[in-house]
Amino acid sequence: MRKKVDDRVGPAKRSRRRVVITYGTYDMLHVGHINLLRRARNLGDYLIVGLSTDAFNTIKHKSAYQPYAHRRRLLEALRFVDKVVPERCWEQKTRDIKKFKASVLVMGDDWKGEFDSLKKLCRVVYLKRTPSISSTQLRALT
Ligand code: CTP
Repeated sequence: MRKKVDDRVGPAKRSRRRVVITYGTYDMLHVGHINLLRRARNLGDYLIVGLSTDAFNTIKHKSAYQPYAHRRRLLEALRFVDKVVPERCWEQKTRDIKKFKASVLVMGDDWKGEFDSLKKLCRVVYLKRTPSISSTQLRALT
């Protein structure tokens, strides 16, 4: 199993790591999430996931089956996720990209074009979604 990068120094510090950042709710962790996260990590050396808090989900009119703490623990268990931070508001992406010196922002192509304004700060990549699977679908089975 690949060893996680030392987290005691800032993500982009010292080794000039290429930091990738992505955002989402990641409820009912499924293969579409795994595919997206693995491809995101392959675009750099250190992957940060901005995980929507339960309060932010309410703002987004989304209701997760799993609470934030559980969704976070699942993501932290993945070998290609290096750090999970809470995502609390829409404006946070600009702040995070600067704070973590992110080189790449990755979003699923359901968001295509939505974050093009951030291209002035870093590369913005929209990855193709895995077909036929979503948290909404899985929640419907509960
Ligand atoms: N994603 C993906 N393929 C899927 C589902 C999600 O690549 N089949 C990606 C999204 O594009 C996003 C990330 O996974 O970049 C987190 O998505 P999220 O909205 O949390 O998952 P969904 O399954 O789309 O959730 P919901 O059905 O609640 O919208």
